[in-house]
Amino acid sequence: MAKETGAKTADYQLGQFTYPRGWLMVASSASVTSVPSEGRFFGEDVVLYRGASGKVVMLDAYCPHMGAHLAVGASGATAQHCVQVVGDSIRCPNHGWIFGADGKCQEIPYSDITIPDTLRIKSWHVEETGGCVFVWHDEEGGAPTYELPAIPQWDDPLWICSPVEEMGVWGTHPMELAEHGVDKIHLANVHGSDRVVYHQVTFDRHCAQTTSHTATLLPDGGESVGVTHSRYTGPGFLRAEMEGERPAILLFCHTPVEDGQVRSWHAVMMKALGDVVTDEDRAAHEQICLFSKQAFEQDLHIFQRKKPSLRPVQIPGDPPFRRYRQWYAQFYQPRAQTAAIQQQANGVIETGGIHSAPWVSSAS
Ligand code: FES
Ligand SMILES: [Fe+2]
Repeated sequence: MAKETGAKTADYQLGQFTYPRGWLMVASSASVTSVPSEGRFFGEDVVLYRGASGKVVMLDAYCPHMGAHLAVGASGATAQHCVQVVGDSIRCPNHGWIFGADGKCQEIPYSDITIPDTLRIKSWHVEETGGCVFVWHDEEGGAPTYELPAIPQWDDPLWICSPVEEMGVWGTHPMELAEHGVDKIHLANVHGSDRVVYHQVTFDRHCAQTTSHTATLLPDGGESVGVTHSRYTGPGFLRAEMEGERPAILLFCHTPVEDGQVRSWHAVMMKALGDVVTDEDRAAHEQICLFSKQAFEQDLHIFQRKKPSLRPVQIPGDPPFRRYRQWYAQFYQPRAQTAAIQQQANGVIETGGIHSAPWVSSAS
């Protein structure tokens, strides 16, 4: 998708903050090493690295001394001698000031001044789960209001896990991507399910879970029904669990780069059938990776050319888009308002499903 920005948070009237509060992904774990890398999230430039202890650190990119970018690395002759990550700290490539994982300046190599506590750069609360690096983003600067979910399957040898793949920068507001998770109608039209048998959306505090039973027609006239539980935890972390002989998990994460623009990632995990991983299991995993990529492309086909949906027309039979937006607004409002917003949004919405898209039945 093109990198231009879509509509802004203010256009959707979500709340007073530009970027949502929550745990948001910033990198795959594999991509963060002892060589600092640069990133851009929430309209800010950042530097990311893995310290000697294994801890991932994210700091604002610019040194408070004279503004060098901490991720550019040493240049010229010094590049051979300079170790930029020292323990869990980072050394500025310009004059060598050292900043800790907490952002505090720890050392100025050529001066014996007492370093004031206030000489620091912004540091982020970082956690890893499922091969993904998340930061807590909060325009109020508060502590996390919910826990980042564990993904134990990532470390389970019976689960085959594809590498966490970056899917690029999309010119879409994160709310429209999240809202897509509840869109039962498009499952038939865009993704080719023959029938949505049952659909349930549960709003539960900072989580929104969609359970869908979708049927595919078989050559013998029967139906194969697939059950998927898609759960948004916070504003940008989707985990879809697909039931079956070999259960599978799809992860989809998206994080604002600028207002109206997100960076996204994707991963697929599948459990082996028996007590060891076989070639058949690997082939099944490859198959579901393919299926998942195709689904992405099908969605992109629509998303690349759609205009922002600022005031959706909601009619009976539509998924609960309005309720979803009410729920999503909690991440853009001061935390003092969270409980009231959640109370209004919490609840379960069930539908018996929908029929095939009209042209499927009329085409024969
Ligand atoms: S610019 Fe970073 S130490 Fe001078
Ligand atoms: Fe979709």
